[in-house]
Amino acid sequence: MSSARLATSLFATSFATRPTVVGSAPGRVNLIGEHTDYNGGPVLPVALERRTSVAAGPWNCWQAVTSLDGTVHRLDLDGPLRHDWTDYLVGVARELRARGAAPAGARVAVAGTVPVGAGLASSAALTVAAARTLALLAGRSLRTADLVDVAFRAEHDRVGVRCGRMDQTVAAQAERGTALLFETGIGTLERVPFGGRLWIVETGLSHRLAGGELNQRRRECDEALELCRAWRPGLRFLAQLAPADLPEVARRLPPPLLPRVRHVVTETARTRAAALALAAGDLAAVGRLLVEGHQSLRQDYRSTVPEADFLVERAVAHGAFGARLTGAGWGGAVVLLAPAERESRILAGTSRDFGDRFGRVPEAWSTRASAGVRREAPPAGPG
Ligand code: GLA
Repeated sequence: MSSARLATSLFATSFATRPTVVGSAPGRVNLIGEHTDYNGGPVLPVALERRTSVAAGPWNCWQAVTSLDGTVHRLDLDGPLRHDWTDYLVGVARELRARGAAPAGARVAVAGTVPVGAGLASSAALTVAAARTLALLAGRSLRTADLVDVAFRAEHDRVGVRCGRMDQTVAAQAERGTALLFETGIGTLERVPFGGRLWIVETGLSHRLAGGELNQRRRECDEALELCRAWRPGLRFLAQLAPADLPEVARRLPPPLLPRVRHVVTETARTRAAALALAAGDLAAVGRLLVEGHQSLRQDYRSTVPEADFLVERAVAHGAFGARLTGAGWGGAVVLLAPAERESRILAGTSRDFGDRFGRVPEAWSTRASAGVRREAPPAGPG
């Protein structure tokens, strides 16, 4: 069932009426460019076919329900956050209100097919879909840049996860059949055609705690940037450093900051190289860069988990072009790129090895590059 249909039917069962507006946005899988978006570097994400939908109707206060628990919660836009999924919705509503683009109240139902805690940006799918839907309910159509900003500020400023802008940008801007090369330092977007299939293999470890780890890495990067500025006063982002600068960085930075900077600098070069290789259709070269990127996350950024290291190693041994942990890390999922004619054998072998080692079969599914946020026609049907 489509996520729009799921949200519409949840709305109907929860509120005994039909929604006025339904909007949806995709999760994303980041092909490469990890932990570069808050360091001014490039990212290369792809929008998933899996989406989150938000169905909404006008009301005199705020009420929300998700398919995850089916309970209607009353939300207080001015009260303390509850430290659950509703914080993202409240964050969006507050940001819209600050721009005069929020309805006075709303009933909201959220449902979808983006796994939560798998490093696939379910939170950005929710915030971008909610921003579009609630603004429409208030009779406003936000520009895409404002939509991204509302969703980013909801998560970054209101919920307090010190993320970059990759997830919200791809959820809002993606186009079918393309990966998005987003140069976060200068804000440019380039669409790289990609008609193939990507596999997602979930480690089964939820990265819900990533907020804490991510925030710590972000602090380390900020500190490293400060120290580098003593020697390069004009430096705006770590990603502006070149690989040739690393020996000087090594002389000036205390451990463990050097490996963090090394990851950002080498990942920046890998991401640009991967975009060129993808545009040239050289998937073998893209795959090699994915594996190098994973090793850098493992050794330098220290954001991987043994389950992901194992999946990458086995996928390559079975003949994948490459694989790497995608998203923030500390759990989540591996993205795997494989030759079409050998996909099923590679997936079967990798899953079997994982089962032998960890005693459970990992969730594995595929996606093609899909499109960003959209208004959905409320599906017809009972309710
Ligand atoms: C999370 C953040 C993104 C990005 C990635 C790491 O998904 O939301 O902005 O920083 O981690 O690349």
